[in-house]
Amino acid sequence: MAKTDTIRTIKSSPRLEGEVVVPGDKSISHRAVILNSLAKGKAQIDNFAPGADCLAMVRCLRALGVKIGKKGSQDSPTVSLSGTGVDGLREATNVLDAQNSATTMRLLGGLLASQPFLSVITGDASLRNRPMGRLIEPLRLMGAEVWGRGQDSFAPLVIKGKELRGIDFTLPVPSAQIKSAILLAALFARGNTVLHQKIVSRDHMERMLRQMGASLESKGNSISVLPLTSPLQALSLRVPGDISSAAYFLVAAAIHPDARIVIRDCGINPTRTGIIDILLAMGARLKIDHERLEAGEPLADIVVESSELRGIEGGGDIIPRLIDEIPVLAVAGCVAKGKTVIRNAGELRVKESDRIATVVNELSRLGARIEPLADGMVIYGGRPLSGTEVDSHLDHRLAMSLAIAGLIAKRETTIKHAQVAEVSYPAFWQTLRQITEY
Ligand code: S3P
Repeated sequence: MAKTDTIRTIKSSPRLEGEVVVPGDKSISHRAVILNSLAKGKAQIDNFAPGADCLAMVRCLRALGVKIGKKGSQDSPTVSLSGTGVDGLREATNVLDAQNSATTMRLLGGLLASQPFLSVITGDASLRNRPMGRLIEPLRLMGAEVWGRGQDSFAPLVIKGKELRGIDFTLPVPSAQIKSAILLAALFARGNTVLHQKIVSRDHMERMLRQMGASLESKGNSISVLPLTSPLQALSLRVPGDISSAAYFLVAAAIHPDARIVIRDCGINPTRTGIIDILLAMGARLKIDHERLEAGEPLADIVVESSELRGIEGGGDIIPRLIDEIPVLAVAGCVAKGKTVIRNAGELRVKESDRIATVVNELSRLGARIEPLADGMVIYGGRPLSGTEVDSHLDHRLAMSLAIAGLIAKRETTIKHAQVAEVSYPAFWQTLRQITEY
């Protein structure tokens, strides 16, 4: 990420209009590059997520001996690689740096637990503060030798690769990163692995593994996977747009009094579309067009127009389906009529920032009436927002959510540490300008 702090000033805009192409999905890009690294044959990944998170994954895989090329435009790069097969990874000569990306750290943690060499993974200050015990515990049950700072709670992680055994395990938190890490470890373990989910989290890993020829079965909320007996088949694909990046514009159009935005080629995997479901339930004028499939993942165009939103209560199974979108959903709650309550979202406390605290503090600064709960927040909507100086707390999703609040606030909103948006969406500010200048 750029070292210099950037301040962005957002003004309210009389109209929002235009077509938006959001960056390639981050979760799918991570999985496409890690799984193709283990495959046999060449793969080309078009519309790879351009943010710093997926580039951190690419750098780590290169350090482990995978030859990965990157070309094409900055906003929509093409990544090409030739997998190393099941035993082709090499010990890195230095510490692996996952930067701000928990997905990089946890997925690599799962993979490296079975590889016959030593690995050390670290990250930036935010990532070194995020829970890693939830990764270490199941990997140890599989026989792994993994250690972390703070009595095996935090990164840096040290991993001494070993032969693993399959497990039958119930995921204590609905985390797709932990599920995916265990699935990666299971590919190289002795015996099959069965995972049970209390609540289903995003299933990109399962879909991609099936496309690449792994023996994986999902039944209800359980997944059963067999170790690889032959390498995965390489999978070339065009990554669908990231619904988590689209969410800023879905909310922007819905809360703005004069708006129509079309999002092209956006992923609509049902394990990710909680934001669409909740906006519809709040009364958003939102339509899904041209539904199709790409490499086993559904995508579509989404049209959203100015809407009269009503407050809503959201909790339970929907939370993992919109966990990354809660900061911008809170902005929608500020504009909606009545009370919006978000519960069962304690995971927000261990994201890139404590998103319950940071969202509540920063939206309060803009004049919102919003209160924290231990596992969510309550927003009393309908109070006009008024621009002032706010801070991203070096959290990309907060920076972009505050920008959307700025579009409908009276007076200017100044966002400190706005450069952090490049973690997932480097072209965000440009796209924002495009839809406000018509
Ligand atoms: C992700 C899973 C989610 C999400 C993150 C990406 C993934 O995290 O918040 O942005 O790609 O697996 P958890 O697994 O911690 O819920």
